[in-house]
Amino acid sequence: MTGSAETWLVVGATSPVARAFALEASAAGSDVILAGRDEDDMVATASDIRIRTGARASVIRFEAEHPDAHPGFVEACLEHRRGILNVFFAVGTMPMQEDMDRDPSLARRTGSVNYLGPVSLLSLLAPVLEEQKAGAVVVLGSVAGDRGRLSNYVYGSSKAALHVYLQGLRARLFHAGVGVTTVKPGFIDTSMTWGEQLPLPAAPPRKLARACLDHAGKGTEVVYFPWFWRPIMTLLGVVPERVFKRFRF
Ligand SMILES: NC(=O)c1ccc[n+]([C@@H]2O[C@H](COP(=O)([O-])OP(=O)(O)OC[C@H]3O[C@@H](n4cnc5c(N)ncnc54)[C@H](OP(=O)(O)O)[C@@H]3O)[C@@H](O)[C@H]2O)c1
Repeated sequence: MTGSAETWLVVGATSPVARAFALEASAAGSDVILAGRDEDDMVATASDIRIRTGARASVIRFEAEHPDAHPGFVEACLEHRRGILNVFFAVGTMPMQEDMDRDPSLARRTGSVNYLGPVSLLSLLAPVLEEQKAGAVVVLGSVAGDRGRLSNYVYGSSKAALHVYLQGLRARLFHAGVGVTTVKPGFIDTSMTWGEQLPLPAAPPRKLARACLDHAGKGTEVVYFPWFWRPIMTLLGVVPERVFKRFRF
């Protein structure tokens, strides 16, 4: 999949999954562009990548909620990229549902970061990907987007919208030979799940990062991670609404 004439744009590069992904991609021979809000953190990651892999690693600031800055951001990425551009998108936010119930501005922000942000950026990147007629896009969605639940329905609905957007983008980019992989993780051991009582163990970010790179290479359309979330979500999906609405999770 990767080679010296490839660049992975890693958006949300302070996420442990994205950090691990950038390291995996650079170890496989790709350049990386780290994009996110915390420049100090990304500079440290870029330096670590250069030392460990010898790959080129650059840093560009990205704020999902500032769409007016996205065209300039894409320009900057194109200046840094070598060869085929690939995109790994890990930006996301998951406030507590109770907090969003009390404060609708927090709910709006969740939709803005998890849905409007990636739509804005990927809409700008799509013509670039079409023009190069190759490449891969990998986006972290969530199993939470498969069914609206009492405890997480604003976050879940933002991911559901993202999943549908990606279905359309996949169809568009297919005709240009560009793969779009939607990754739906269950629980991953990051700050997003820190301190939560989870019904199942959280998977290590590094394993998810490896799976993302593997599936990008294979051109897989939709990935559940770990794999057992697919049958779990299939089972949950067939529970009738009149029963499902009684559940308190
Ligand atoms: N952890 C899980 O169990 C789990 C499960 C399913 C799906 N996911 C998804 O996996 C992805 C990575 O999450 P994570 O678990 O690694 O959590 P995380 O460590 O909180 O990572 C979230 C990333 O999103 C960035 N971000 C948040 N708001 C942003 C904004 N307005 N503009 C730009 N960047 C912003 C964060 O940057 P800052 O460092 O600047 O805040 C960080 O890089 C997310 O899309 C999440 O929804 C996670």
